[in-house]
Amino acid sequence: MRIGILGSGLMGAKLGTIFVRAGHDVVFSYSRDESKLERLARDSGGVARAGSPADAARDADVVLLAVHWSRVDDVLKQAGDLRGKIVVSCSLPMNAADTELAVAHTSSGAEEIAKKVPSAHVVEAFNTVPSEVLFSVFERSASDLRPSLVYCGDDERAKQTAAQLIRDVGFEPIDVGPLRIARYIEPFTLLVARIAYEGKGGAAIAYRFEELEEKPER
Ligand SMILES: NC(=O)c1ccc[n+]([C@@H]2O[C@H](COP(=O)([O-])OP(=O)(O)OC[C@H]3O[C@@H](n4cnc5c(N)ncnc54)[C@H](OP(=O)(O)O)[C@@H]3O)[C@@H](O)[C@H]2O)c1
Repeated sequence: MRIGILGSGLMGAKLGTIFVRAGHDVVFSYSRDESKLERLARDSGGVARAGSPADAARDADVVLLAVHWSRVDDVLKQAGDLRGKIVVSCSLPMNAADTELAVAHTSSGAEEIAKKVPSAHVVEAFNTVPSEVLFSVFERSASDLRPSLVYCGDDERAKQTAAQLIRDVGFEPIDVGPLRIARYIEPFTLLVARIAYEGKGGAAIAYRFEELEEKPER
């Protein structure tokens, strides 16, 4: 697939690199540091380049939206026409201080994004996982013990494509239903992240990766 990365930070840089290693053609975009995008493309070791959000979106089958909630409007504006494209969003609708969800209860970040790009097909995925575990999951993707990853969306074809990308990273995709299920996923994700980062286990607790590894009979 041709994948445009909109937001090449903790999530976008890692997922983009993994997508390249899984054989996809990737454009890294949206950073305050152009040289970082060039470096990511060079270091990914496959078919990848740096570009603007418009470059990333132009020929893409899929765009990965991986920016802070406060940057969503800007990056979508720069990306331009997303008609018919699959938008996989890992962006959580966090407030500016990153303390609370800015959208909750009667809507979700994913649904708000779908309203911003009504002619695209939005799937929410990867937002429940801390970026710290992504390379480990990918490195162990041949294992039978693939951790599950939930995703939701309203378009079946877009969901199948997202499920393939989730598998490529090394997770077992779990379809939890339509996009509105994001209303339940997003608050739960925030809660789990808080427990994980306030405790001693960090990202491994959020993902139970160590448990999976040490106690395979579970
Ligand atoms: N990190 C996680 O573990 C995690 C887990 C689940 C969900 N999420 C969600 O995923 C989304 C992305 O998170 P992240 O941690 O990857 O964020 P991040 O590391 O801050 O990356 C955001 C990207 O946006 C770019 N950016 C920010 N302001 C910009 C501007 N004014 N002009 C151009 N580029 C700009 C950053 O550029 P620079 O390269 O210059 O910094 C960076 O490449 C968020 O919505 C977050 O809630 C994150």
